[in-house]
Amino acid sequence: LCAFVAPAEAQTYPTRSITMIVPFAAGGPTDVISRIVTAHMAQTLGQSIIIENVVGAGGTTATTRAARAANDGYTLITGHMGTHAASVPLYPKLAYHPEKDFEPIALLAGTPILILARKDFPPKDLKEFVTYVKANVEKVNAAHAGVGSVSHVSCELLHSILGIKPVGVPFNGTGPAMNALVAGQVDYMCDQIVNAVPQINAGTIKAYAIATPERNPSLPNVPTTAEAGLPAFQAQAWNAIFAPKGTSPAIIASLNAAAIKALDDETVKKRLLELGSVIPGAKDRTPEALATLVKNEIAKWTPVLKPAT
Ligand code: MLT
Repeated sequence: LCAFVAPAEAQTYPTRSITMIVPFAAGGPTDVISRIVTAHMAQTLGQSIIIENVVGAGGTTATTRAARAANDGYTLITGHMGTHAASVPLYPKLAYHPEKDFEPIALLAGTPILILARKDFPPKDLKEFVTYVKANVEKVNAAHAGVGSVSHVSCELLHSILGIKPVGVPFNGTGPAMNALVAGQVDYMCDQIVNAVPQINAGTIKAYAIATPERNPSLPNVPTTAEAGLPAFQAQAWNAIFAPKGTSPAIIASLNAAAIKALDDETVKKRLLELGSVIPGAKDRTPEALATLVKNEIAKWTPVLKPAT
């Protein structure tokens, strides 16, 4: 019986709208990337994809919910380097495991990390920033999107390199954290480029450096951390779609194909590139490649973050 049911299901999927859980507030990098890509995927799939922002605990509240959702292809999640890697060492009682409880669907974007500050933060460049935060560690604060979020773990890495432990100010996403940075309510942040480009171009915040080996074409005037004197700080995040474990291979294949089609669409590509994202190449677009990325990222972040817990 199953042999006949599965193909029929695959041919008809999806027959109703799909929910895409975004584990952070609207307006942040995960939300923006999800909306750009899923708008195109919805056209391919012939059904709407409804974004549901579910916030809390550095994205792990939403990811727990996604892990427990029905594995029928109608509830998906846009996870990232935090929810599907860094959360493992940071949350000893994590209610899901990124590898055991999810089916990888498709990597959507790589997102370089930048060191950003409020416009009137005194340091002029990265060298001054390093001296300043070390000298004023009791006074300065770093905004982030909750323990285990990309912004949190990226600045944890920066702080471990600098040998400091400043106060962190958690938000439900770096969308609201960015609003606080623009308003001058927090001092600095390590955030994904997607959130930073519009604000840097509008002159509402400062960017000290991008933590990748090369400058980003969307921000040609922002130096790399190596150029600015801190080569040890290298950080790039990623965003990807996952489904609950046990989702059928046919549904996974259909979602993966729709995601790839979106990444190849000229309008989608242009928008992602304008925001500084790195669009995955052919070999990085398969569910298997995403499974390998998750495995490698858990292995990479575990020794870095475990001592901090
Ligand atoms: C993060 O820091 O993990 C993200 O920037 C959260 C978000 O998308 O708002």
